[in-house]
Amino acid sequence: MKFIGVRILSPEPAETAARLSEKLQLPCETAGDDYVVGAPGCEIRFTKGDIAAPQEAQEGYYVGLQHLAFNSTDLPASVKLCLEHGTELTNGEAISYNPKIWGTGMNYVNPVCPDGYGLEICQRLDLPAAPMRGMTCGMEHIGIPVRNLEESIAWYEKLGFKAGSVVLNHRDSDNADIHCAMLEGDGVILETYEFQHMDHEPFANQSFHALRFAGEKDEVLTGPNGEIIEVTAA
Ligand SMILES: [Fe+2]
Repeated sequence: MKFIGVRILSPEPAETAARLSEKLQLPCETAGDDYVVGAPGCEIRFTKGDIAAPQEAQEGYYVGLQHLAFNSTDLPASVKLCLEHGTELTNGEAISYNPKIWGTGMNYVNPVCPDGYGLEICQRLDLPAAPMRGMTCGMEHIGIPVRNLEESIAWYEKLGFKAGSVVLNHRDSDNADIHCAMLEGDGVILETYEFQHMDHEPFANQSFHALRFAGEKDEVLTGPNGEIIEVTAA
């Protein structure tokens, strides 16, 4: 299989796509009835569809497709560009740190997104920093909170993914233990993470609808957290 991108549902796909395009300064074009925001390494396709009201619960309670994380090789510069452009970040100019991932951790910020899915811009600290021209340089990972990390790793390994970095982090701010695995394969990285000591429910009819791949035949798979995998014959 080869990763194509993601499908996001919206009652107003033109407006929702335009908001993301404007927020991250990425190109947007129509594709039939859909609207496609292009990021290197990922086609973000917005399709008309009704979605449930946002589900409010503690982070890590709902599982399934959750956030789009874009890559930066110079996160302070990305933050500066965001703020100059008027792209609001959840913590202002403060940069958060996710320790241990890829050995040396990852810095990240979260652009505010009102459309039922999460946004992140992140910089891997194990890779060399480099100057950038835009806010991001493409897709870095897809964030999927999961019900059971081992079960999710096993399911994605059957699809050809490999666990590249597996860590257990304790977050002091809310005393959460988060077990995380970065799964690499098929042209995409999936950040699967389990909030431990917590009941989990899949998102119901949410906006972040599916991961899309080109493969041998048309099929739709449902992952262990309710995530939908659309495969289209290449
Ligand atoms: Fe993430």
